[in-house]
Amino acid sequence: MYKNISLLGLQWGDEGKGKVVDNLAENNLDAAVRYQGGHNAGHTLIVDGKKVVFHLLPSAICHPNIQCFIGRGVVVSLDALFSEIDDAAEVLGNLEGRLTISSACSLIQPYHIKLDQLREQSNNLTKIGTTGRGIGTSYEDRVGRRSIRIADLYDESKLKEKITQALDFYNSIFTHSFGANEININELFDQNLQQAEKLKPYVGNVIEEIRNLQNQDKKILFEGAQGALLDISLGTYPFVTSSNLIGGITSGAGVSPSDVDYTIGITKAYTTRVGEGPFPTELFDEVGTYLAETGGEVGATTGRPRRCGWLDGLLLENMTRLSGVNGLCLTKIDVLDGLEKVKICTSYKSSKSFEELIETMDIEDVQPQYLELEGWSEPTAGITQFDDLNDNAKAFVEKVEEISGVPVIMISTGPKREDTIIRQQI
Ligand code: IMP
Repeated sequence: MYKNISLLGLQWGDEGKGKVVDNLAENNLDAAVRYQGGHNAGHTLIVDGKKVVFHLLPSAICHPNIQCFIGRGVVVSLDALFSEIDDAAEVLGNLEGRLTISSACSLIQPYHIKLDQLREQSNNLTKIGTTGRGIGTSYEDRVGRRSIRIADLYDESKLKEKITQALDFYNSIFTHSFGANEININELFDQNLQQAEKLKPYVGNVIEEIRNLQNQDKKILFEGAQGALLDISLGTYPFVTSSNLIGGITSGAGVSPSDVDYTIGITKAYTTRVGEGPFPTELFDEVGTYLAETGGEVGATTGRPRRCGWLDGLLLENMTRLSGVNGLCLTKIDVLDGLEKVKICTSYKSSKSFEELIETMDIEDVQPQYLELEGWSEPTAGITQFDDLNDNAKAFVEKVEEISGVPVIMISTGPKREDTIIRQQI
């Protein structure tokens, strides 16, 4: 059985990773690790009838026996973290001892959030449609080697020096470039010190703890946030998030690339996207509205409506290969129930070849060409056995396998945990 499993979305996020996490959690999962992104992710859970939304914590946290980690590749907002820990405590109890956060994580400070939002509101800059949570701006500081990391919170003079340097820089941008107010140094310093105390029980050595688990042959899940098409390097740049999803496990969690022995890729049976950027198969007709309404397509983090369209087989195949996916999880197939025809994009009409297009991911001007499959009126909703699916739905799943080149090991047929077809247990 596989011990180090990677799970990542293959589209623009929101593929429904929670389902897979739930399934693995019921099958002897010991630990879960977030390794990139921040509280831009969104994952809604119903625990004992209460709704909890996690943005930063690994979604496996709601399973009591799973040890959870936030690796060094994650940018951490302490406000967001504490609000999640407090919310989680109401339904899950105290998380101390179950959650370890790397002291090497870069922090998201209030000036990161302020600059992210000011830039997005500006009429002179490219609007990315970010979540406005300071993700990109915090990563900018990380790459610029001026981040305040969690470990710095416990060295007062270093912290003071770093906050002073940061605010010299940011306050000048706020006032000169945006006519906005400055952030007060002393208030921010005191806030950091207070939060440092509260954070202490959770700070630890993630590399060492994961190694110990690996030495004991424990089963570990590396939970990717967002989706491969939002990868800073391989996604639809500049309309991407600011972290490496593909291959990010090594730098973000501190494990070797060869440790991962199985990668599960997740795709919806159609496509959605929140925020700006190219989306070749986007639908602006009644089918798009149908997918949005039937699929409840509203962003869990920002509440923005998601753009909807057909499954893009070209992007799926490319992201499957780039991410080294071994098996696919196909979610929300039930949303297609009742459609007369179901389409999958299999080529682009463009003056450039597909190879040229994916090198830069400049796919704004392509025209998608579709394979049209028969839809189905007999519902897939709630089905738990592949053999019970109607023939047209089966043909759709088989087409996804043919296009992606990997087996579909799991199919989600509805929002409930039990609405799942397991074809291969990982
Ligand atoms: P940022 O990550 O806030 O910088 O936003 C950059 C882009 O990534 C925007 O288009 C966001 O809508 C998108 N994004 C970030 N996180 C998620 C997510 O968890 N699901 C879907 N889209 C996301």
